[in-house]
Amino acid sequence: MARARKPRILILHGPNLNLLGEREPAIYGRTTLAEIDRELRARGARAGAEVKCFQSNLEGELVTRIQKARGQFDAIVINPAAYTHTSLAIRDALSAVELPAVEVHLSNVHQRAAENPVRAHSLIAPVCAGSICGFGPQSYYLGLEAALRLLDKEESA
Ligand code: DQA
Repeated sequence: MARARKPRILILHGPNLNLLGEREPAIYGRTTLAEIDRELRARGARAGAEVKCFQSNLEGELVTRIQKARGQFDAIVINPAAYTHTSLAIRDALSAVELPAVEVHLSNVHQRAAENPVRAHSLIAPVCAGSICGFGPQSYYLGLEAALRLLDKEESA
């Protein structure tokens, strides 16, 4: 069935992800954030969706973007970065707007928990439809795909 209108997906990147490409490449790879965003927009366009990307190092800015997403976007794909493990504010904002959300991480946070136990715990996961981690930039592309499928399901329900 044809969609009523173009799905709009908001991609949110948390702190330090602006440094991708040069930040700990053994963990996060060499792909830059600009390259990931370009690919997400291209994939979105091919799927007939509108994709907007936003990065911030500030928790409050991410909260504000989530709040403003209501009525402007249909779903959120978020890599909260270190805020994954600390931010009740981002979790509450996602709960408040009631948009379907997908949590993504480049690295496998569960594997990394052996060295750094805090990484195994996400405050964000319980308010998301699902989480994808460990696939590098592909985690974002799978996250976008998951968000679009969620919207398809909503539409055909
Ligand atoms: C990350 C994982 C987090 O634990 C970390 O703080 C990040 C990046 C990831 O994409 O693998 O900054 O979210």
